[in-house]
Formats: sequence, C-alpha cells, structure tokens
Amino acid sequence: MNIPEDSVSFKVLFREASADQINALEGAPTWTAHIHTDGRPCDRDQLCPRSEKTVTLLQIDVAVKDKRAEGTGWVFGTFVFDARLDDADPWRNLAPISIGWGNDQSATPGSPLEENIINEGFRDIFFGWSGRPHMGWNGSANGPVDNPRSSCVSCHSTAQFPRPDTFANILPSRLNLTDDEILHVYFQSVAGGTLFDPDVIPRPPFKSDLIVPVSLDYSLQTLLGLEQMCFACVDGRGPFDATSPNPSICPERLPVEESIATFRSMGVTRVTDAQIAPLGVECG
Ligand code: HEC
Repeated sequence: MNIPEDSVSFKVLFREASADQINALEGAPTWTAHIHTDGRPCDRDQLCPRSEKTVTLLQIDVAVKDKRAEGTGWVFGTFVFDARLDDADPWRNLAPISIGWGNDQSATPGSPLEENIINEGFRDIFFGWSGRPHMGWNGSANGPVDNPRSSCVSCHSTAQFPRPDTFANILPSRLNLTDDEILHVYFQSVAGGTLFDPDVIPRPPFKSDLIVPVSLDYSLQTLLGLEQMCFACVDGRGPFDATSPNPSICPERLPVEESIATFRSMGVTRVTDAQIAPLGVECG
C-alpha cells in the first residue's frame, strides 16, 4: 500500500477518565461513546460487552504524507487539550505537544534529537516525573496516552499485514529490552510503503507459510481493520458464515503453539521461553 503524497489523517482520542481525575482536562469537550465496559483483555471468542459512557477529549493526532520527511515520508504530530487556554470554544483549546518525522537513529540515548520536537511547555503536566520522564522513548514525539517506550514514528513504521508476532507495534511487556535492543528493533528507519519485517512470522491466528506481507504505509488503522475482518472470518462471525469463502488475504487459523515454535528474535538474544509465552488476545 502506498498512500498518496499530501494525504492527511487524524484521530481524536478520548479517555474515560474525567477532569476530576486528571485536572489538566478541566473544561475539555466530552462525547458519549459506546465503549468496552470490562477493559482489557477480552476473549476473542466472547465479544467484549459495551455500554454508553461519557468520555473526555485528550489529544488529536495528525499524520501527513510529506516527502520532505526523508527516510520515512511521514510527519506525525499531536495536539493536546490545554486547560490554560481560555477560548470559549473548548475545541480551540488544543496546543501542539510534539512532532516527529524520523527515528533519530544516529542519536544515542540521552543525546539531543533532530527529527523529533517536544513542546517543553507541557513538562510537569503530561511528562517530566519518574513514572513518565519523557513523551516518547529517548525524548521522541508521542502523545500522553501513547506507550512511553515507543514513539509516533516508530510505532507506525511497523504497519504491515500480517502483523509480526512478538515484535508487533508495541514493545511487549514480557520483553525486558535494553536501550540498544529497543533502538535496533523498534527504531529502524522504515521508508513509507516498505516492510518493517519482510521475513514476518505472523501473530496467530494467521498462518506462517505462504504469507506475502504487505506494507500498510504507516497506517495502523488499516492493520486493525484487516485483522478484525479476518478474525470475524476465522470465527465465523457476521458478515461471514460457515459457507462464505475466506477473503483471500485472510489465512487459515494457526494453533498458538505452532506460532511459538517459529518465534523469531530479530537479533535480540535475551529472550527466554517464559517471555515468549502467548499473550491473551486483545480486543482492538
Ligand atoms: C504504541 C503504538 C502507537 C503510538 C506510539 C502511536 N500510535 Fe497512532 N495509532 C496506533 C494504532 C494501533 C492505531 C490504529 C487504531 C486506533 O486508532 O486506535 C493508530 C492510529 C493513528 C492514526 C489514524 C490513522 C492510521 O491509519 O493509523 C493517526 C493519524 C495516528 N495514529 C497518529 C499518531 C500520532 C501523531 C502519534 C504520536 C503522537 C501516534 N499515532 C502514536 C498506535 C500508535
């Protein structure tokens, strides 16, 4: 997949936490959303229960396909709600917190970054304490709800179908990697439209043979869409039924043990059997 130059995509992120719990969100717009009630993880065979709840706006993520971003072809930036601004229209009280267009591969942990910029005005509000020392890993661009051991660019660079097992788009909590290993595995420079992991061993239930992985050009929404379609298909859920053929991109179901037997470490050597125990399947 190759998304055309100048394309823009954005996503609005809401949290169930209210302004009472996070005072930086005081006055932020709220919506009513039909969301999971039990949190994660959910069992794929038993769909997550949902109900209508009030959610509060936290951030708006933007991605732009721009060839000036050498190495990736993408610029990622995010705006967060800023209770210190006082426009009467709460949707105008958003400010940029970070922007990134590369992985700063030549920067060693702790040295200044050139392809990622953080708005220091949000220090001590959204980052800057021991539990959240920075926005993204090593000070790279990220949003307040994003995994601090990742960044916009590194997480989105993994967008391909099928998703690699273990080294999917987030750093699995079961892997305790050093900074060097994180840099090696997750902060490679991936040009838009090329594969993060060309030798992919797919995450179950996708089969590991006869797979031709497809780059999704930094779009993780497309990845989740394809996965959800294939899950519905292998589970025989609507719109699929026992008689409908598999969409050709959806592989047969693979037993979890088989996938673990074919686990690849992508150069990381300190992986133990316990660390590659299967993760619960999560509802996206
Ligand atoms: C740890 C992984 C991760 C990080 C870090 C991350 N994202 Fe995403 N992003 C996702 C996933 C997964 C989706 C698709 C599902 C969803 O929307 O929740 C997504 C969806 C998006 C979309 C919708 C378009 C698309 O096809 O993916 C945009 C735009 C986006 N993210 C921008 C950003 C920006 C900007 C940042 C940094 C501020 C960021 N993301 C950081 C995982 C991540």
